[in-house]
Amino acid sequence: MVSRIKCVYAQNPMIITVTANPMVEHVFPVSRITPGRPHHPSEGWAFATGKGINAARALHHLGEDVLAVVATGGDRGREVIRRLEDESIPVRAAPVSGETRAGFVLYDRGEVTTFYGPGPTLTQEDVEAVVATVTQALPARLLVLAGSVNHADLYPRLSGLEVPLVLDFNHPSFQECLAGAEVRLAKPNRAESRSLLAEDDPVRASALLTEAGAQWGVVTDGDGPAVFRTGNQAWRVTPPVVEAVHPVGCGDSLCAGLIHAMDRDPADAVAFAMACGAHNASRPGIGHLDRAACEALAKHIQLDPL
Ligand SMILES: Nc1ncnc2c1ncn2[C@@H]1O[C@H](COP(=O)(O)OP(=O)(O)OP(=O)(O)O)[C@@H](O)[C@H]1O
Ligand SMILES: [Mg+2]
Repeated sequence: MVSRIKCVYAQNPMIITVTANPMVEHVFPVSRITPGRPHHPSEGWAFATGKGINAARALHHLGEDVLAVVATGGDRGREVIRRLEDESIPVRAAPVSGETRAGFVLYDRGEVTTFYGPGPTLTQEDVEAVVATVTQALPARLLVLAGSVNHADLYPRLSGLEVPLVLDFNHPSFQECLAGAEVRLAKPNRAESRSLLAEDDPVRASALLTEAGAQWGVVTDGDGPAVFRTGNQAWRVTPPVVEAVHPVGCGDSLCAGLIHAMDRDPADAVAFAMACGAHNASRPGIGHLDRAACEALAKHIQLDPL
């Protein structure tokens, strides 16, 4: 089984990301929020998001061959697809029964206030539609399962497709996916690793991930130190200081950076991944990575071996 997976991995450059709960997000920069009063921001914009979409965008900007599979419903679902097509991000819709959610974000230089509307509750039929859409798109070298999901079967079903996985989600099925498949990267943030692994210490949490079989176990903590572990090597890495503009999707950008750099010397891959996360924090969008800027930033990142 493993050798067959490795063979498929070697032959196919494509990475598939799955987004079970996408969103059209509307962003308004404001200088001061006054509850109960009307606000008239002078600018605003909207974009398609969701963790898998964010990772797909970041991978696309890094020059990777990526396909975003997105569970979409109703007019807002069509809007998500149209927006991704406008960005030239390869996308395939998996139609589901409910209406795709909307989000609303206010931000003022790093201070982010979010309202994320309710997404559709996936039915068993919806799960089959997503699995069928991914299956039709195979072969792929990696399947990225990232972001919220509200059906216990979806991620385990996808992890049974014999494609190496990246796991970045907070759902009880995380453990099942980690134990039952070939996992290249497992990356909860610190709060997620508390709830998924009952472990607050990123050093021990990253060890739990690799002991469970992940090739890379990574636990991030926003602008605090992250821990990266692979094989018998581990590092604590403090993010570079950047002017944080919109620190959402930093984990998705870090995952994309590590995927992109996975064939490098491990310490170089870690530095590049950290640079991608920090670069994302310094920019208003999500996953709009400038590869050259990330490479330059990576040169300044210090790794403390553990
Ligand atoms: N304010 C910041 N300044 C510099 N780097 C940051 C900042 N916030 C995040 N990063 C970088 O991004 C990485 C991932 O951040 P974080 O822990 O917030 O991920 P996350 O919670 O998974 O994010 P998301 O799920 O929104 O993508 C950090 O390890 C760091 O490299
Ligand atoms: Mg995350």
